[in-house]
Amino acid sequence: MHDFKYKKNRLYCESVDIEDIARKVSTPFYLYSYNTLLDHYKKLVSAFGPVKPLICYSMKANSNLALLRALVKAGSGLDIVSGGELYKALQAGCDPKKIVYASVGKTEAEIRQAVAKQILFFNVESFSELRVINKVASDLGVIASVALRINPDVEPKTHHYITTGKLTNKFGIDFKTAYNILQARGSFSHLKFNGLHMHIGSQIIQSTPYIQAIKKIIEFIKRVKIEGVTIEYLNIGGGLGIIYNEEKPQTAKEFASKILPLLKSTGLKIILEPGRFIVGNAGILVTKVLYLKKTPLKNFVIVDAGMNDLIRPSLYCAYHEILPLKQASGKREGLVKYDVVGPICESGDFLAKERKLPRIEEGEFLAVMSAGAYGFSMASNYNCRLKPAEVMVKGNQFYIIRKRDSYLDLARKDKIPEFLK
Ligand code: LLP
Repeated sequence: MHDFKYKKNRLYCESVDIEDIARKVSTPFYLYSYNTLLDHYKKLVSAFGPVKPLICYSMKANSNLALLRALVKAGSGLDIVSGGELYKALQAGCDPKKIVYASVGKTEAEIRQAVAKQILFFNVESFSELRVINKVASDLGVIASVALRINPDVEPKTHHYITTGKLTNKFGIDFKTAYNILQARGSFSHLKFNGLHMHIGSQIIQSTPYIQAIKKIIEFIKRVKIEGVTIEYLNIGGGLGIIYNEEKPQTAKEFASKILPLLKSTGLKIILEPGRFIVGNAGILVTKVLYLKKTPLKNFVIVDAGMNDLIRPSLYCAYHEILPLKQASGKREGLVKYDVVGPICESGDFLAKERKLPRIEEGEFLAVMSAGAYGFSMASNYNCRLKPAEVMVKGNQFYIIRKRDSYLDLARKDKIPEFLK
């Protein structure tokens, strides 16, 4: 499942002892396994082989150029949500014809950049957005391909912050509006309406919500076909869940076996937009224990990574397994209940609460597991902390794929106006 394993009581990433990296690079840092990353991508390619899908890795999960490049070289396209992501996608060498662009709030400038590059699809989220894309395409004298993002109103049974396919969410277009838009397609002279898109949420561990949504979309396709609309592409979004704790998510193969019959029945070209499935378990956050602090009620482990480095526990109460880089020797046996907390000035700054762990010592290193997705990409400089370094291991080598921020980075863009000088 992933290439972070103990060998002789020491945690390795592929063939590299992680503590060696920690001593050279210093902590905190994100660490990715190239092999795991590629393996997850290939698992999806093979599971969905019968429909030969275009896999557009959702780069919001982790947009480091080295990761993007590795996936692009393996054949992946990219799912983007901003002009910044378009810029990095192109820097990573992604063919624009493998880029799909979702977001409820694309600005005209962002749309212009993407139309100019002739990306594969805009996943369109509203009627007003269509008008802007049409205008921009007309200005540039080109035709832009659009896929209506359908909001199929299904319950994906995940955290409410990452549920996106219910009618109370801001995303997508309900069936009735989508039908009306397709009927009015003649008024958009510079748009080609040849795709439908859905993305119902993230960290979904069952196939039922996908089946419900795809069935609804298939019915919709039949209805619009009668009106003379030809749909060529169906994009079923991302959202595949991974194991953080005790979840039992389906494997790519199990998931595919459930929905392939439906997908095949459409005869359409299929697009998938997974983020977490590909990169989630391919990355960890490595941190050092600064202090142990016992209070009348708690055992705190104060580490050098905080919510600015990994916000998922604070934001979603997400569970990330915590493993010591050195497995406990005999004298440290027995579990202790700890709150693992960061240095940030907020009580919400924690990586784990009431977590039973082998007895921890000051100065040792810990691995926060499954941190490859929505880890670094949601990191910030809060408390003027330096964004961590990112490192990739391939075989017995490691590579720094992003330098740790410097103090200079913190002050570089601030400006003191003349009157304060
Ligand atoms: N496609 C669209 C249109 C999306 O909005 C997303 C994620 C994806 C694909 C990829 O979803 P994935 O396969 O990674 O589940 N920050 C949250 C997750 C937010 C997901 C946002 N959209 C977290 O840390 O759990």
